Amino acid sequence: MGPSGSGKSTMMHILGALDTATSGKYYLDGKDVTELSDDELSDIRKEKIGFVFQSFNLLPRTTALRNVVLPLIYLGLPHEEREKRAKEAMRSAGLPETHDLYKPNQLSGGQIQRVAIARALVNDPKLILADEPTGNLDTKTSEVVLGTFQRLNRELGRTIVLITHERDIAEHADRIIFIRDGQIIEDMRMHERRKANEHIEHV
Ligand SMILES: Nc1ncnc2c1ncn2[C@@H]1O[C@H](COP(=O)(O)OP(=O)(O)O)[C@@H](O)[C@H]1O
Ligand SMILES: [Mg+2]
Repeated sequence: MGPSGSGKSTMMHILGALDTATSGKYYLDGKDVTELSDDELSDIRKEKIGFVFQSFNLLPRTTALRNVVLPLIYLGLPHEEREKRAKEAMRSAGLPETHDLYKPNQLSGGQIQRVAIARALVNDPKLILADEPTGNLDTKTSEVVLGTFQRLNRELGRTIVLITHERDIAEHADRIIFIRDGQIIEDMRMHERRKANEHIEHV
């Protein structure tokens, strides 16, 4: 959490190996990411990380299933294996099979975001990065999307890093990190939640 312009997206881009830090070190799975080449960074993105964006970033004239299959094409998997994995990811993201062949304009905002989550899951990443994934969703749909993230975390053991402006959303997390002017100003665990709530009032 943090005010607009505080560096949340920048930090997430660094964590996601989309950008490199000008100073400091970043270790992912024990590997110093700051020392890796562009090719190695791209491998990390393909194998370990799933991204979910506020604006969904789906291909508009392409079916939900095809949107989810896309990241697997770069991994060089056979056609049948790709479809099988994509469908599994879509079920995990809570999207019914009846919607596999719908295009984004035939889906609701919440369903579109679930397709985006399925796409982030399909390469079986350990780390899912979500930059204001509920920013364009109403409260009820946001809850559904958050429920999906919570299930992925609790049942499948995925780590979710989620940026949000909203206190209600942040309260679903086990840990809340506050950023201001490019600096981490607070890092709180769940048991300190009461304190966190007071803090959010002031941010
Ligand atoms: N630690 C940092 N040091 C220097 N510049 C930073 C740092 N973090 C963010 N910035 C710059 O601040 C601007 C806003 O950052 P951004 O990550 O888009 O903020 P947010 O997502 O919180 O709105 C960007 O131009 C970014 O390059
Ligand atoms: Mg941002």
